[in-house]
Amino acid sequence: MLGAQAWAAAPMNEPIQPIQPANITDPAKVELGKQLWFDPRLSRSGFISCNSCHNLSMGGSDNLPTSIGHNWHQGPINSPTVLNSSLNVVQFWDGRAKTLKEQAGGPIANPGEMGFTHNLASDVVRSIPQYRDSFKAVYGDDTVSIDHITDALAAFEETLVTPNAPFDRWLKGEKDAISPTALKGYELFKSTGCIACHNGEAVGGASMQKMGMIEPYVTQNPSQGVAGLTGKDTDRMLFKVPTLRNVELTYPYFHDGAYWNLDEAVDVMARLQLGRKLSQEEVGQIVAFLKTLTGDQPDFKLPQLPPSSPQTPHPVPFGQ
Ligand code: HEC
Ligand code: HEC
Repeated sequence: MLGAQAWAAAPMNEPIQPIQPANITDPAKVELGKQLWFDPRLSRSGFISCNSCHNLSMGGSDNLPTSIGHNWHQGPINSPTVLNSSLNVVQFWDGRAKTLKEQAGGPIANPGEMGFTHNLASDVVRSIPQYRDSFKAVYGDDTVSIDHITDALAAFEETLVTPNAPFDRWLKGEKDAISPTALKGYELFKSTGCIACHNGEAVGGASMQKMGMIEPYVTQNPSQGVAGLTGKDTDRMLFKVPTLRNVELTYPYFHDGAYWNLDEAVDVMARLQLGRKLSQEEVGQIVAFLKTLTGDQPDFKLPQLPPSSPQTPHPVPFGQ
């Protein structure tokens, strides 16, 4: 009896913890946030929604090296997954937003993303009677501020967690949930030192680290990470450690989206961060482990968006 208990308890002491399912306390707010998430009318063109670059049918990413924004603008950096982003200590590659709510205002007003302004986006939503009713029901007033729009978006994003991955089932004591190869990969992930930066519930997302600890990262992308905010030399190439949850779905990899295959990304990490050249077999084992981190994807009814009214400002899909 004692032996069985010890065995069942042991996996929980691992440096990676299972993802907890979302605890929805305000379903009406989540539903409103879901509508806004899918609503391209939050963009100037009337064509780009949050889901355009964080496609929930594709692991919450766009599977492009860098995103396409307003007027086919070429984005400067890879779109991170929104899955499990509620577990990040800060948002964005350089951590410039503290919360999901703060983050959500960014893309709407970014000229190279949704190309709109907070006032114009709020005007559009306010002009739609059914949205006004929903804001009234959730917030007690129908003024439809950007504050409420981003609050509802964040409430929806908090539900985008992916529990029940094979690795989580293994952590909870289901011995056969992952293959012996994946288990070897997990042991290597720990013994090689990946775990120092990729740990916790999200297997990342918990700290800012330098890309290129041992060897510099060669890239065409001009982003300097946190140094872009602070101007400090010591902050050069400091990025938020990405989550490795669902990583098999979120290619291409790194902030510049330069690597399409997980094998290559693992090889780069081992060399640049840890000064280790892994064998092909070892890389394969780590990749097998990483694939066990794919959890249950968001599963919900696609929201129907309320129609515009005669008062709704028209979208500007082309030109300025
Ligand atoms: C044109 C593409 C595009 C659109 C549209 C877009 N995003 Fe993003 N999103 C990105 C990119 C690129 C980043 C990374 C930017 C950076 O770190 O500098 C990002 C970052 C994020 C992050 C931070 C994730 C992390 O791990 O740091 C969240 C959360 C997010 N977006 C949510 C949203 C929401 C909510 C909307 C809609 C209001 C939205 N995005 C619209 C491309 C887009
Ligand atoms: C010193 C901290 C550190 C260590 C050690 C480390 N990583 Fe990373 N990892 C990072 C950072 C920072 C990034 C983002 C770098 C970038 O995009 O420029 C990253 C990115 C990744 C990515 C790409 C994720 C994505 O969505 O783009 C993978 C895969 C990855 N690491 C796997 C590993 C593996 C496997 C190991 C061990 C061999 C490892 N990492 C060791 C900090 C670390």
